[in-house]
Amino acid sequence: MNTQINPNDLSAVVEADRAHLWHHLIQHKPFETTDPRIIVEGKGMRVWDQKGKEHLDAVSGAVWTVNVGYGRERIANAVRDQLLQMNYFANSAGSIPGARFAEMLIGKMPGMSRVYYTNSGSEANEKAFKMIRQIAHKRYGGRKNKILYRERDYHGSTIAAMSAGGQLERNAQYGPFAPGFVEVPHCLEYRAQWDVENYGERAADAIEEVILREGPDTVGGLCLEPVTAGGGVITPPEGYWQRVQEICDKYEILLHIDEVVCGVGRTGTWFGYQHYGVRPDFVTMAKGVASGYAAIACMVTTEKVFDMFKANPDDPLDYFRDISTFGGCTAGPAAAIENMKIIEEEDLLQNTLDMGARLMANLHALKDKHAVVGDVRGKGLFCGAELVADRATREPAHEKKVQAVVADCMAQGVIIGATNRSVPGFNNTLCFSPALIATADDIDQITDAVDAALTRVFAA
Ligand SMILES: Cc1ncc(COP(=O)(O)O)c(C=O)c1O
Repeated sequence: MNTQINPNDLSAVVEADRAHLWHHLIQHKPFETTDPRIIVEGKGMRVWDQKGKEHLDAVSGAVWTVNVGYGRERIANAVRDQLLQMNYFANSAGSIPGARFAEMLIGKMPGMSRVYYTNSGSEANEKAFKMIRQIAHKRYGGRKNKILYRERDYHGSTIAAMSAGGQLERNAQYGPFAPGFVEVPHCLEYRAQWDVENYGERAADAIEEVILREGPDTVGGLCLEPVTAGGGVITPPEGYWQRVQEICDKYEILLHIDEVVCGVGRTGTWFGYQHYGVRPDFVTMAKGVASGYAAIACMVTTEKVFDMFKANPDDPLDYFRDISTFGGCTAGPAAAIENMKIIEEEDLLQNTLDMGARLMANLHALKDKHAVVGDVRGKGLFCGAELVADRATREPAHEKKVQAVVADCMAQGVIIGATNRSVPGFNNTLCFSPALIATADDIDQITDAVDAALTRVFAA
């Protein structure tokens, strides 16, 4: 086999990929007759594939990750310098970038005080689940161990994270799952489950109903996405979060906010929960922490929680006995420091708010023009357009048509996303999460492509 890569002819790479790579979340049969896509290069908002074709990336690396855009030399330099100085030591000891980034991060999160490093969003969430379970043992005789999660939310790919997964299609065939995880209803008003004025409060009250059914003394934690991402880009209705906070306070339930998607700027604030005035006990984050320049995830908690794990130093089981081998990699925090500085120096939170408003206005214009757009939702540069076959009945558009819109945009050189294998029958929301550096022209190019695609796919 030819192991030399010729930059002008990547056919050997394509063949190696076809022969040996197992891509995530994709059916591989078509690769027997078509080439897998190889992304060769990225700069700013744009990426180039093996054929040299340029794409405007409206989904930041397909899964909402590359918040500061591609090709950031200063991040690469910081990682390189750090690796040469000290690449790894387990987190039983500290590191210079680990301590510095923790301090910077906590500076953006009033009320929080401790950072635990790990490698993926799934793992970060499991750290919080483990802490909630251990607190149940330490304080409540093991009883207050149930963890509530919400229908349509997603918290990761491991079996425990999927046990807290509210997407039936994503979970199908992977059970049995871990016990002690209990679902609460989603809060998407467009798919209303109650006919009331104050929908947000009503949807939160449904959480209280589950707590009362299960027994408040058995429920230790509530895990929620600030804006549900892969389950349909669901922004919480007015009044929802305030009520959620009241319920958590009332029943002494630890509030865990999964910021794996929304964290570090995506919605125009450092964290999604900061739009809603809630006081989380745990915040987890991953994708945007270092924009994919290194694998890093964080589980952040309060001093109050931290104190619970050092109360009795004579008890050998008293502390958090978790291990994260690669939580000790220094490339992650070194990249995260530069990533955060870039967001500050380039005023990207403001740009996210401004460009998010433009993206939302453009999507509303598409809704006015195309009957197939039933609802548009979003916060900052995380937006969705739910497609329907019939506006009156809100019957979801068939996912083949939704995928045809994505494919049409791809052919135009614009990469967008769509909810995929999440909620049965509801893989019908187009997703947009361009890098926080997007310009007005980029936003218009994205929605112009969608406009043309909707015209072609739904006229056919
Ligand atoms: C809200 C949310 N939580 C957790 C995860 C899991 O993160 P990872 O894939 O890094 O394990 C994801 C991944 O898409 C996510 O969207």
